[in-house]
Amino acid sequence: MNYTVVLPAAGSGKRMKANKNKLLLELFNKPIFLYTLEVFQQDPNCESIWLAVKKDERELIETCVNQYGITKVHGYAEGGMERQDSVRACLEAIPPCGVVLVHDAARPFIDPSVISELVGTAQASGAAIAAVPVKDTIKKARDGIITETVNREQLWMIQTPQAFRYELILAAAQAAAKDGFLGTDEAMLVERLGHPVEIVESTYENVKMTTPEDLIYGKAILENRKQEEKK
Ligand code: CTP
Ligand code: MG
Repeated sequence: MNYTVVLPAAGSGKRMKANKNKLLLELFNKPIFLYTLEVFQQDPNCESIWLAVKKDERELIETCVNQYGITKVHGYAEGGMERQDSVRACLEAIPPCGVVLVHDAARPFIDPSVISELVGTAQASGAAIAAVPVKDTIKKARDGIITETVNREQLWMIQTPQAFRYELILAAAQAAAKDGFLGTDEAMLVERLGHPVEIVESTYENVKMTTPEDLIYGKAILENRKQEEKK
């Protein structure tokens, strides 16, 4: 099942504290976002890649894309103030297609089999998102005092990719913009239209490079993959 992927890459990476867009930081001499791009470059079902980038980073990113032989990037959109604005800019720029995948450029370790399950599910039902079961006990508290322990069996940690039929996610993104609604993921924009969203179980490796410790974990994942390849 073919799909188009939209990669928001126009953040500033404040929590990484690197004084620059964290996506440009390198893991073993390769910028983080290139690992993400390579996953989609290598996936035969991925027809085209669209990137949301900051205006003043476009040239640098485009140079990297060409240098690393990424040929599926069909266009760039200018990123906005919020991640949601960056994603919408891409959705409005891409030509109509069947299924669109939205994926954080900051999640380089996504498993290709999760991608294909997401795309198949979204094609069938409209919307599917990657998630993993919560590992820790979660409690609610007010003023430092526990008010409730939440039943963990119903809790999922939501990741990207999130996959949707093109018309559905475009309509949801535009409705959110019109209503001034800011969600923390694309699924929220679809949920508020009353459309069901299915969960596809993902892997714990699909972490988002967010704070400095994530880089340590990222390097360990890459080391481990190298070892596995040798076997
Ligand atoms: N992103 C974007 N446009 C924005 C904000 C974020 O395209 N206005 C992208 C980031 O580049 C990243 C993804 O959305 O690939 C997930 O966002 P996040 O992890 O929050 O990255 P940053 O916003 O860059 O980091 P921070 O929140 O720590 O500043
Ligand atoms: Mg952010």
